[in-house]
Amino acid sequence: TERTYIMIKPDGVQRNLVGKIIQRFEERGFKLVALKLAQASEEHLEKHYADLKGKSFFPGLIKYMASGPVVCMVWSGLDAVKTGRAMLGTTNPLQSAAGSIRGDFCLQTGRNICHGSDSVENAEKEIKLWFPDGVVQWTSALEGWTYE
Ligand code: GTP
Ligand code: MG
Repeated sequence: TERTYIMIKPDGVQRNLVGKIIQRFEERGFKLVALKLAQASEEHLEKHYADLKGKSFFPGLIKYMASGPVVCMVWSGLDAVKTGRAMLGTTNPLQSAAGSIRGDFCLQTGRNICHGSDSVENAEKEIKLWFPDGVVQWTSALEGWTYE
C-alpha cells in the first residue's frame, strides 16, 4: 500500500494541534506506521527541502522548521499521498478549503502547520530521510471495514 510522510511543523506543535491532526488521519482510515517527536537540525531540514534551495524564502523556511520540535509520521493506505495533500489543503492557507487542516487552523504560507509529501517518489525519499531504521508493519483489525 501507498505511504506518505506527514510532519506537523513547529507552529502546529506549539499551537497544540498535534492530537487534532493525528485524529483526522486516523478517522479517515489511514494506518499510522511511524511516529516521533524530533528537534530537526538545519542540515537535516535542508535535505528535506532540497528542491526549494535557492528560493528567497528558503533561509526563513529552514529557521522556522528548526525553531522547535516537529512531529514526524508515516501514514499508509489507499492513495495516501494525494489524499494526504488534499487533507492538508493548499500551500497558502488563505486559499485552502474549509475542512482542510490548513483551511481550518492557520492563515499564512510561512506558518502553515503541516507538511505532506507531494509524490509517491518523494514520499519514499522522505520516509528514508526521517525514519532511516524503517517503519512498523502491523495489521489493523479494521482493514476489512475500511476496504472492500
Ligand atoms: P510542504 O508540505 O511543507 O512541502 O508545503 P507545500 O508542498 O504545500 O509547499 P512547497 O513544498 O512549495 O513549500 C514548502 C514550504 O515552504 C511551504 O509549506 C511553506 O511553509 C514554505 N513556503 C513556500 N512558498 C513560500 C513563500 O512564498 N513564502 C514563504 N514565507 N514560505 C513559503
Ligand atoms: Mg512541498
